[in-house]
Amino acid sequence: MPAIAILGIFVADATFRAPRQPAMGETILGQGFALGPGGKGSNQAVAAARAGGDARFLTRLGRDTFADMARKVWAEAGVTPHIIEDPDSYTGAAGIFVDPATGENAIIVCPGSAENLSPADLDAQRPLIENAAIFLTQLEQPLAAAKHGLGIARAAGVRTILNPAPAAELPGEMLALCDIVTPNETEAEALTGVRVETLDEARAAAAALRARGAGAALITLGARGVLYDDGTISEYIPAFKVTQVVETTGAGDAFNGTFATALAEGADVLTAARFGCAAASISVTRPGAAASMPTRAEIDAVLAG
Ligand code: RIB
Repeated sequence: MPAIAILGIFVADATFRAPRQPAMGETILGQGFALGPGGKGSNQAVAAARAGGDARFLTRLGRDTFADMARKVWAEAGVTPHIIEDPDSYTGAAGIFVDPATGENAIIVCPGSAENLSPADLDAQRPLIENAAIFLTQLEQPLAAAKHGLGIARAAGVRTILNPAPAAELPGEMLALCDIVTPNETEAEALTGVRVETLDEARAAAAALRARGAGAALITLGARGVLYDDGTISEYIPAFKVTQVVETTGAGDAFNGTFATALAEGADVLTAARFGCAAASISVTRPGAAASMPTRAEIDAVLAG
């Protein structure tokens, strides 16, 4: 199975369920708490591996109990870690508020040691990136590292996917290194200035991303599904029906990681996107981020209807 090289961060997610977020200076009582593995890149690696992909994850960790949590979740999921240890820093954490009524979340993330990921770290992993089928990254680690990784992959003819989350200003030359860019609606708007509410607006945002150099845009539309547009194919893939949304944290990561697995297996882009949508529809029915990633059998069962 061709490898998927994923650059990103691991953090421990401290998730609080409460009817609303507290105001400044206020304390409120919550309805539930969980501490578990998170970080967009790590979640995507776990999703890719649980779906059957050969996921290789590149990051920095501290030397602490959160780093132990990272190694445990990767070992259980079958992710191969390529880690630089930063004994002088710490493994990051995220504070996540979840509204139990909707499952929607609000997140503050501190990447900790992963903030030190540098282009030199990517140079040290050139063989891994150059021999992969897919290079996938996000924007929780420094932009310079993401851009350098995309550049190494592109020069080696490796297919590149950028999940531009959280939203950030991107230099045009960075989008030009991406075969596929996968923003959600708000990230697409932040990158293009096009408000994405309707499918036509999603198509307009996709066209703007392509005009800035991306090969294709795959815009995730939450409960509605995804829109793929490469200038030749423009296709809306509806989401799978979900009876009860428990928590949306990690749904985008479920999509990106499993989409990469399907592409690495040789699926065409629309089949891969449908596979990713099936995985995301399972992820939102479970609490947690990495903990919510489905197995291959579970994704196949959703696809089989
Ligand atoms: O995409 C969800 C992730 O974003 C969470 O696991 C949290 O750690 C933040 O990085």
